[in-house]
Amino acid sequence: MEFQEPIHRHTALRSFSREHHHGLLLCWKIREGLKNKVATSRIKQYADWFYHQHLAQHFDVEEQHLFPILGKNNKMVRQAIAEHQRLRVLFMLDNDSVDTLDLIAAELDHHIRFEERVLFGEIQQRATREQLLLLDEIHQEIPDDNQWADRFWE
Ligand SMILES: [Fe+2]
Ligand SMILES: [Fe+2]
Repeated sequence: MEFQEPIHRHTALRSFSREHHHGLLLCWKIREGLKNKVATSRIKQYADWFYHQHLAQHFDVEEQHLFPILGKNNKMVRQAIAEHQRLRVLFMLDNDSVDTLDLIAAELDHHIRFEERVLFGEIQQRATREQLLLLDEIHQEIPDDNQWADRFWE
């Protein structure tokens, strides 16, 4: 899976970028599961777990500490928040159809790439040194998902 963090990413943003890497891995795992015709309930269980353990918190931290650097009226921030809302709804759906899982993978993938390629560049440019230092202190990076036993993507 290709994912390359931009070289000049500030330390304070690198932890977010590593979480993005895990998010992109989720998209890849969902697609692998679908491709291999794994029971969708197994994929959905993992997606739910990942959402509650990782993603929900990642979205909240971005909204509380990262996006305010550009302000909530910023067009890119508004787009990112709207995408979070849509993803929250998709993850919370009690529906393990192929279409829903496919949509989750597509929209999460798109959202993360938008943040990495566009939004984070802008935040890094506009943030003050103090804001970045504070961010670095506040953000507790969410660890990897090694403990999930049902590795349907392998
Ligand atoms: Fe986000
Ligand atoms: Fe993000």
